[in-house]
Amino acid sequence: MSMPALFKGRLSIPVIGSPLFIISVPDLVIAQCKAGVVGAFPALNARPPELLDEWLARITEELAAYDRAHPERPSAPFAVNQIVHRSNNRLEHDLALCEKYKVPMIITSLGAREDLNQAVHRWGGIVFHDVINQTFAHKAIDKGADGLILVAAGAGGHAGTVSPFAFVAETRAWFDGPIALSGAIANGRAIRAARVLGADFAYIGSAFIATEEANAVEAYKAMITNSGADDIVYSNLFTGVHGNYLKPSIVAAGLDPNDLPTSDPSKMSFGTDTSGERARPKAWKEIWGSGQGIGAIDKVVPAAELIARFKKEYDEAIDPPL
Ligand SMILES: Cc1cc2nc3c(=O)[nH]c(=O)nc-3n(C[C@H](O)[C@H](O)[C@H](O)COP(=O)(O)O)c2cc1C
Repeated sequence: MSMPALFKGRLSIPVIGSPLFIISVPDLVIAQCKAGVVGAFPALNARPPELLDEWLARITEELAAYDRAHPERPSAPFAVNQIVHRSNNRLEHDLALCEKYKVPMIITSLGAREDLNQAVHRWGGIVFHDVINQTFAHKAIDKGADGLILVAAGAGGHAGTVSPFAFVAETRAWFDGPIALSGAIANGRAIRAARVLGADFAYIGSAFIATEEANAVEAYKAMITNSGADDIVYSNLFTGVHGNYLKPSIVAAGLDPNDLPTSDPSKMSFGTDTSGERARPKAWKEIWGSGQGIGAIDKVVPAAELIARFKKEYDEAIDPPL
């Protein structure tokens, strides 16, 4: 296990609040960091692109002010997620702003790039890359990523299909750097379990949708609090890549979740496609993403309250005697 120096003394629990398209906004990121977990957001959430400058200024300033007032327990570092895919024509612009603010941590998805990793290292940042299998994991480290995010079965968004037990064990066999494990982690006991498996961090997304600071409509938050693993559907229809979605939102869009067609992967879209094509309901806006862990989430609370609950459960979680 290896926790980079960046995080030492700055986390209340070993958690990264994962980047969520549309949902992760500065209010949520700042609340997460102040409560001692890494807050992250996709650069693409700042629209128009110029808004990213404002967001980074606000996050940097508010966290610095918090740190001055709480030198004994400074805020957790924050992270910006970059979608490294050919459809993302903002990447250079967004990366230049991350350099301007010396963003401490970059999370890359859907593509590993050596030049990007080197650029982040030049300003003193670290890069974690998210992967769904061993091939991509090796590629990410070969290209200079510092850490891996193992997106296991049951995760929200573009999830993998590998069991977390197999994924962490196989990765730890060759990689002793930092690992974040993701997929249906939504309580403190599961965070502890991720560490017992050999991960350094739990990487948690869906649970944070049901927080007051999350930028999601009330009906989406209510669907998270009212649903469980049986309500999650794995399909590639909506973006071209397989992901987990809330069944009731698919029904509300007029589709049969038990009889979904499969999609053409060449038509991948991550919110950067402005062609106006409307052949299928819009992923994220109409079809709501979620992982399988949300049975543990039953009310909408401030992010700090959810994190306090995680911490209590994490501290209390023990392996019962035989
Ligand atoms: C609604 C939603 C949007 C997401 N958007 C992104 C994104 O923009 N970039 C990204 O790297 N991951 C994205 N993810 C994946 C999460 O960062 C993370 O891997 C996942 O939420 C972890 O699983 P969990 O939801 O079961 O906790 C998204 C997930 C959800 C549920």
